[in-house]
This record gives sequence, C-alpha cells and structure tokens, in this order.
Amino acid sequence: MNLSPILAMNLVLLVVTALLIVADRLLVSYGKCRITVSEGDQKKEFEVQGGSPLLGHLSEHGVGISSSCGGRGTCGYCKVRVAEGGGQILPTEELFMSRQEKAEGMRLACQLKVKNDLTIVIPDYLSVVRAMAVAKKFDPNKRWKVTIY
Ligand code: FES
Repeated sequence: MNLSPILAMNLVLLVVTALLIVADRLLVSYGKCRITVSEGDQKKEFEVQGGSPLLGHLSEHGVGISSSCGGRGTCGYCKVRVAEGGGQILPTEELFMSRQEKAEGMRLACQLKVKNDLTIVIPDYLSVVRAMAVAKKFDPNKRWKVTIY
C-alpha cells in the first residue's frame, strides 16, 4: 500500500488548517463584546475583546465554571445556557448534549468563541458541583452526566 498520497493529503489539510487559524487570528476582529451572566438571582455584566473562548472570559471575571480538561472540549463539564448570541452549536459540543439541552441552548463554554454580545445563564447544578469541590467531595476523575429538566 502506497502511503504517500495519504500523507500528501494530510499535509495539505494541515497547511490549510494552519492558514485558516492564522487568518482568523490576524484578519478577523470581533471587537468589544458584552457578556451578561445570570446565576440564580444575581446578574453580572462585563466587556471583553471578542475572538477567544467564553470559558476564559468567565474565569477572568470570577464566574466559576467546572472544567477538568483544561478547555480542550473533552470533559463536558463546562455547560452553560446561552440565552442570546450563541449561534449554532458546534459538532464538538453535540457529543455532550442531550436533545433537550440542545433545545435549551446549552453550550460548552470552552468551545464557544465570543463573537458578539452574549447572555449566559449558569445552571443551578454548577453550584452543587462547586460546593462539592469546596468540601473536597468532588471526584474530577469520575465521568459526570448531568441532565437538566
Ligand atoms: S472544559 Fe472540558 S469540555 Fe469544556
């Protein structure tokens, strides 16, 4: 079996992907975006420079979101409900979402790139997980599946 056409095609795909990433970073400016976060009866608003994932912005502004994969999109813990401005769910997020969660606008904060103003609702179960982590009863090695009704 001759591998050189497969290697050549993979190399072309790698170069195209790298060019798209560089073009996105250098040529596209999303400007300032306003993020509104509701958690329980509390509301927080802040402005960020668009173009990077929501998870980092939330953490920079003191909004704690569960995460055990460092934002690589592999744990599925960082679910937030996007009430406005989220756009279409990405294929990388669909693996972690039930049909109902998709219908409710749930997204993975680490996969959602901020491109415009967003309104975010932090699900109640996150406060339960946060309390478990503070009490050191949270096992990050466990696979968690949370369904919101
Ligand atoms: S932080 Fe792990 S999936 Fe988002």
